[in-house]
Amino acid sequence: MIGRLNHVAIAVPDLEAATAIYRDTLGAKVSEPLELPNQGVTTVFVELPNTKIELLLPLGEGSPIAKFLQKNTAGGIHHVCYEVEDIIAARDKLRAEGAQVLGSGEPSIGAHGKPVLFLHPKDFCGTLVEIEQV
Ligand code: CO
Repeated sequence: MIGRLNHVAIAVPDLEAATAIYRDTLGAKVSEPLELPNQGVTTVFVELPNTKIELLLPLGEGSPIAKFLQKNTAGGIHHVCYEVEDIIAARDKLRAEGAQVLGSGEPSIGAHGKPVLFLHPKDFCGTLVEIEQV
C-alpha cells in the first residue's frame, strides 16, 4: 500500500544551526525557512536525490513538536512520511488492521499542500508515521 518515502522529519532546537549542518557540512541543497502557522512549525526542506529531509522548529504556542524537543533537547527524528495513492482507502485499511489514526481521522493539508494523516507510534515500531496522498 505505501509507496515512496516522501520525507523524514527531524525536530531541531536551532533551525539556523541545523540548516548549516545540512548545507555546509553535508553539502545538501536546502530551502529558505517556511513558516506554517497552521501546523505550528517553521520548516526547512533539504532536497536529496531520492527523498527529502524536513527540519522542524516549533512555531507558536502549542506546537506539536514542542513536547518532543523537551524530551529530546538536541533534536531527533520526529516522523517518517510515506506516500499513498488514496489516503481515504489507506486510512480505512489501516483502521481495519487495528491501527490508530490520530486526530479526527479526516486528512489535513500538509506542508506540501497535499492531504496527510498521522498514525500512532505504538502501532508502528515506536515511530510516528505520516501518510501523504500524492
Ligand atoms: Co511530515
